[in-house]
Amino acid sequence: MNRRECLAGLASFLAGSPLLGQKDVVRDHSRVPGINELLNAFDFETVAYAKQPRTSYDYPAYGVDGEFTMRRNRQAFDWVELIPRRMAGAAKPDTATEVFGQKMAFPFFVSPTGSQGLLNPDGDQAMHKGAAAANTLMAVSNNSSFPFDKVAAAAPSPLWVQLYPKQALDANRTYLEACQSAGAKAVIVTIDQQASSYERNLHDRNLGGRGGGTVSRFATARPTNPYRVSEMRLWYEWKFFDDIRPMVKVPMLAKGILTGEDAKLCLEHGVDGIYVSNHGGRSLDYGPSTLEVLPEIVDAVGGKVPVIFDSGVRRGTDILKALALGANAVALGRVPLWGLGSYGTPGVQRVLEIMQTEFMQAMQFSGAPNIAAINRKLIRSDFP
Ligand code: FNR
Repeated sequence: MNRRECLAGLASFLAGSPLLGQKDVVRDHSRVPGINELLNAFDFETVAYAKQPRTSYDYPAYGVDGEFTMRRNRQAFDWVELIPRRMAGAAKPDTATEVFGQKMAFPFFVSPTGSQGLLNPDGDQAMHKGAAAANTLMAVSNNSSFPFDKVAAAAPSPLWVQLYPKQALDANRTYLEACQSAGAKAVIVTIDQQASSYERNLHDRNLGGRGGGTVSRFATARPTNPYRVSEMRLWYEWKFFDDIRPMVKVPMLAKGILTGEDAKLCLEHGVDGIYVSNHGGRSLDYGPSTLEVLPEIVDAVGGKVPVIFDSGVRRGTDILKALALGANAVALGRVPLWGLGSYGTPGVQRVLEIMQTEFMQAMQFSGAPNIAAINRKLIRSDFP
């Protein structure tokens, strides 16, 4: 037999072989990993992507316009180095802290995020159960999928509540009274002008929606002017805080602060806590990252009231850096949403526990035995 006859024989053997006919020989080995295989917050996003319809995944994923600010929120953490202290006795760091008299096992909590029902049929209730299981405070959004009292009843742990200002003052009163009588321990007033102008949602709407035709709530809210900006949040003035102060019996925070000057105005208008946030890059594109403006705001506040920080936090070291730059506590927006969208209540619990583990390790390796020991000496950054 010559070489040509030999190859032709081999080829006809392979072509007729049952091995090639069996689909499972060449089957796709991709699969969704189990919850115990997920090692960090980013893993939960990947699983949420795999398990959610496209439009539900997109809802937390996007930032405004070109997403410069959303990217910069993450990049800013890379511009801060941790400078460890050795021999600091940080074998068992005390991670506990207190904000407004509220004891917290770790210095972070769940940011208010709306429409959680898109990611899980039990929405905010499932989130509250997961947060409570991880001994973590949660803030309930004004746009929650369930009323505040129902979310409160889902688990025993304390809640804060968030308010989007309403121009008709009594509408605020009704909501604030209901939430406070259901046990809200603080009120976060969100004053950044997040609008329904997200390009991805507009694309969705123009295409009639993807993922089986469902579009997010925002996509269906057609702006009434040609500029794609919902007017419902453009009337805001500082006087609003004076007007609602008598309605708020618990600490009142202003969320969306990005300058020292605005932080000082908050204090002049009776605000009890400054919440530094750019809505996770969803408010104004080309606005600064929150980490870069944090020191200016902390200096302006001068320790008079607590400073809360969010936008871009994904790692325990991120939390450590924000505290080192002067935040009293940090909040997580998308991280618990990915937990909810991947594995529901157990996903929320697991992702928060991973953040706790990472934060604990960050304290140990940087030599911080307790929260009070986390200060600017622990970091080096290009910004003041
Ligand atoms: C939000 N955010 C938000 N903020 C608020 O005050 N009320 C709300 O209803 C919502 N809803 C909401 C939905 C989704 C899907 C996202 C991603 C964000 C902003 C949120 O509280 C927080 O400021 C950011 O999410 C923090 O940024 P990271 O952690 O998501 O990067």
